[in-house]
This record gives sequence, structure tokens and C-alpha cells, in this order.
Amino acid sequence: MPEILLYVGVVIGVLMLFRTYVNGARCKSKEKLHGKTVIVTGSNTGIGRVTAVDLARRGARVILACRNQTRGQAAASVVQRESGSKNVVYMELDLASLKSVRSFAENFLKTERRLDILINNAGVYMQGITEDGFGLMFGVNHLGHFLLTNLLLDRLKECAPSRIVTVSSYLHNHGNLDFDTLRTHKEFGVGESLWDVFRIYSHSKLCNVLFTHELAKRLQGTHVTCYSLHPGAVNSDLARNLNKMSRRLLKGIAALFFKDVEAGAQTTLHCAVQEGIEGLSGRYFSNCAVQKVKAKAQDDAVAKKLWEVSETLSGLT
Ligand SMILES: NC(=O)c1ccc[n+]([C@@H]2O[C@H](COP(=O)([O-])OP(=O)(O)OC[C@H]3O[C@@H](n4cnc5c(N)ncnc54)[C@H](OP(=O)(O)O)[C@@H]3O)[C@@H](O)[C@H]2O)c1
Ligand SMILES: *[C@@H]1O[C@H](CO)[C@@H](O)[C@H](O)[C@H]1NC(C)=O
Repeated sequence: MPEILLYVGVVIGVLMLFRTYVNGARCKSKEKLHGKTVIVTGSNTGIGRVTAVDLARRGARVILACRNQTRGQAAASVVQRESGSKNVVYMELDLASLKSVRSFAENFLKTERRLDILINNAGVYMQGITEDGFGLMFGVNHLGHFLLTNLLLDRLKECAPSRIVTVSSYLHNHGNLDFDTLRTHKEFGVGESLWDVFRIYSHSKLCNVLFTHELAKRLQGTHVTCYSLHPGAVNSDLARNLNKMSRRLLKGIAALFFKDVEAGAQTTLHCAVQEGIEGLSGRYFSNCAVQKVKAKAQDDAVAKKLWEVSETLSGLT
């Protein structure tokens, strides 16, 4: 009997060590954010909500920018409870609608005085079409955030030093920006198969990295800095729209091998609050450290072109 207990103990111990290893690096900064205001998009669940809790604990006023009022308000209560801060509010933002992005920005600029950190966290992994006819993943993951960031830029500059953090993914490595496809298919890629969705998602995440690359250049000298990042493979709700089989399979794997959402928020937090990383503006982070990216993810010409195309498509120019 005692022997069995020993074995069980060892197995549990090894599992715990393994989980600690999987969860990876943690944000070490003790930075407080009293008097500062933060926006986190897509913060009613997943990585975004955990990020919001941590920032509220640090004393920030946190705006949960979410598309669904019921879920957004419910999340605001959860974040208030878990952070012990009342300074958490929901504001409606549907990134799949350029009109909604504009009215969010208008509303925010009218009712709030500061913006110190903008966290572009919301993301979708599914096919579909936005209100304006763009592919859902391109529209939400990139274009909506592109417009949002630009509309809030003056406020960020006024409140500098300030930061813009965009949650990308390791999968950006599998992306490619085919501007010809974009001209004919506002999805930035065509198809419905599992493989197509994977590819088009990857394109949108490459957009996040290139957007940040170009943004950093445009922000030189303003003391507004920006970062993109991979949160890790995280056991969140992101796969909720996959078919039942893939979802079940993923669930089992995810419980063991993926980071929990707490761990998944750490690199976002690092980019948002870590002191002394300003010199790394425009770079890509993973596991709370800056990482090298492939040539295609730091291509000046492509990044500039993406910026100009996005200006036109989002109606900014
Ligand atoms: N999980 C991973 O393994 C992983 C890996 C790499 C990168 N990422 C990235 O991490 C970020 C957070 O994802 P997650 O894993 O936390 O996924 P999640 O649990 O699915 O959360 C995604 C959030 O985005 C919101 N959202 C979706 N469409 C939106 C829209 N049109 N307007 C406003 N908000 C919208 C969702 O709101 P609803 O609840 O209303 O749908 C939800 O709050 C995403 O950018 C994702 O691409 C995740
Ligand atoms: C908002 O979320 C609630 C709860 O998940 C759901 O019942 C409702 O249909 C959603 N509303 C919209 C407009 O999607």
C-alpha cells in the first residue's frame, strides 16, 4: 500500500513539474498602474479576461472592449471580483464592423480622459464574413484592430509613454500576404477546409506582426511603443468553432500540453508593463522574451504596403 502511494506521489509530482514547464515564463514586472487607463479587446473570456484581471489588480482603469453586451457585462463583474477593483467597465466593440470600431473610438474618446495601454487581443479562428464584406479572420484579427489603433493614436501620444500590444501567434510563420488575392477575395485567402482556415488565420496573424513592425517606425520619437507576441498554445475557447471531432481531440491534448489561460496572458502582460523594453518597439515576443522572426515577418516593403492597403480598406484615407 505505501508503495502505491509513493508511485502515485511521483506521478503527480512529475505531472506538476511538467505543467510548470508547459506554462513557461511569467511576467516578472511589479509595475503599478494607478491613474492609468487600459483597453483590452476581446476580454470577455480567454487570454483577454485574465489579462484584464491582472491589469486591474495593478490599479489600472480597465475597459473591456467586447462585442456582446451580456457577455461583456458578465465579464466586467468577474474581473471586478477577481481583481478586487471596481474600476472595470464594459464598452461595446465589434471588430467585425468598421462602423462599430468608429463608434467605439468616438464613445471612448468622449467619455475617457486617458489611454496608456491598448491591447489588441481579440481574435477569431473561423471562416465568415464581416459586416463590410471582408473575411472574418482578416477583418477582425487585423483590419478592425488597424482602424481602432489609428483612431486612438492621438490619445496614446498625449498620454505617452504609452504602449500598443497586439496578440499575434506563432502561426504567423505559416502566413503569406498575397495582395492580388485580397483584391479579388476580401478574405485574404480562399476556401473552407480545415487547411484553408489554418492558412487564412496564419495570414491574419502575419498581418499583426507586420502591422506592429510598420507602426513602430511611424511612432519613432513619440514615446509610444508597440509589440506583437505569441501567447503560447493556450487552452482557451479559441477552437470553439471547429467541428466536434477536432474539438474533442484538441481538448484532450490541450489539457496536458497547452498553457492554461493564466500562463497564456503572461507575454501580453510582459509587453504591456515590463520596464525597459522600449528599445524593442516593433519586435515580436514569445515566452516573455523578444524573438527573432523570419524575413517575411520583418519585410519593410510588405509592411508598408499592408499599411497602405489597410488605410484604404478601412476607410482611413
Ligand atoms: N489559444 C491559443 O492557443 C492562441 C495561440 C496563439 C494566438 N492566440 C491569440 O490570442 C488571442 C486571444 O485568443 P484566446 O485564445 O483567448 O481565444 P478566445 O477564448 O476565443 O477569446 C477570443 C476573444 O475575442 C473576441 N472576439 C471575437 N470576435 C470578435 C469581434 N468581432 N469583436 C470583438 N471581439 C471579438 C471573443 O469574443 P466572443 O466571446 O464574443 O466570441 C473573445 O472574447 C487571439 O488573438 C488569438 O488569435 C491564441
Ligand atoms: C450575447 O451573449 C448571450 C450569452 O452568451 C447570448 O444569449 C446572446 O444571443 C448574445 N447576443 C448576440 C447579439 O449575439
